[in-house]
Amino acid sequence: MTPYYHNYLQLDKILGSQQPISFEAGNEPAHDEMLFIIIHQAYELWFKQILFELDGISAIFNKESINDNTEDAGIILQRINRINKILHLLNEQVHILDTMTPLDFLSFRNLLAPASGFQSVQFRLIEAKLGLRMQQRHRAAYYKRTNEGGFTDVDYAVINAVEQAPSLVVHLNNWLERMPFLNKELWVKFSTDASTDTPINTHPFWNTYRKLYADSLNVYEKNKLADFDYILLNYRGNLTEEQCSELRQQFTATALQAALFIILYRNYPLFQTSFQIIDALIETDHLLGTWRHEHINMVRRMIGMRVGTGNTSGAGYLEGAAQMHYIFKDLAGLSTFLIERRKLPALPDAVLQHLTYG
Ligand code: HEM
Repeated sequence: MTPYYHNYLQLDKILGSQQPISFEAGNEPAHDEMLFIIIHQAYELWFKQILFELDGISAIFNKESINDNTEDAGIILQRINRINKILHLLNEQVHILDTMTPLDFLSFRNLLAPASGFQSVQFRLIEAKLGLRMQQRHRAAYYKRTNEGGFTDVDYAVINAVEQAPSLVVHLNNWLERMPFLNKELWVKFSTDASTDTPINTHPFWNTYRKLYADSLNVYEKNKLADFDYILLNYRGNLTEEQCSELRQQFTATALQAALFIILYRNYPLFQTSFQIIDALIETDHLLGTWRHEHINMVRRMIGMRVGTGNTSGAGYLEGAAQMHYIFKDLAGLSTFLIERRKLPALPDAVLQHLTYG
């Protein structure tokens, strides 16, 4: 059959899917319910595209080995950048709802309870595929409140099943852990400062870097050295278990060493794509965080301090989720451990050979 615009895009289905409840017989039509439905549907379409990109990224990571010298890393970067562009758009889109006044919303709000954006399975799958797990979710018990704003048993099982598969956090962590440039045999000729007072003798580069970092801290920042030791060297010192789980949440110390090394030496050709991937994922988290805050502001304006249609405490619940649901916090936190570029140790030849082409 010759493709025809309307059929190719299956517009019968899409354009036939806006059914405001207030337009049904016996109800008073609320003009703004159409906008409310369309904006949610537009979000869900873009969520679908984000999930599609995440699956594409995961398929590349699932290959036995991905190599910085092939196009793999470039394709991963391109897809994360696409996700970020979509998130930019979604952040803008919230403001279309600002043209609906709180009174306009009240005229149909009660008709949709207990349905709520909380129940967006696709949104939960985006969070899960990026790396959020049920035990890390704010008020995880709400998810099980079937018929009262939570998920059906089937949807709850779908979210949990997706959480069992390796997330982007897991893929990235494994990829970073496999990076070869910190292998000790490449560092035998590295001139390290023997006077370093590292509590555990780890690696010549980190022994030296730790000393440089310690020297860079001012009197108010001295406690950051203990954070450095735990986050990057896995040395717990006097930190409590609670402090440790707060300091490093999703990544291993080995993976974060590789990430920090890439960030520090990002200008070497072989590190450029890896650096951009790390940076783009920090941006993904940032954009999702921005969305959450835009949504909270809109919710406050729309319903004040009322509970949500999904029966959470409303703005209060959303603030908790916004705070807890950052996924790449460990990567963003690496900025804590940067030192001035001019003080960076020169790399030994054996490592440099790994980092340049030809
Ligand atoms: C009048 C506009 C809106 C209001 C008043 C509103 C209100 C709320 C409230 C109060 C919650 C917390 C759950 C509950 O108790 O219901 C929530 C969650 C949520 N809403 Fe909205 N919302 C609006 C528009 C949207 C739009 C357009 C989207 C786009 C998909 C959306 C997506 C979500 C998502 C994903 C959550 C879960 C957030 C999380 O748990 O981190 N909302 N919303």
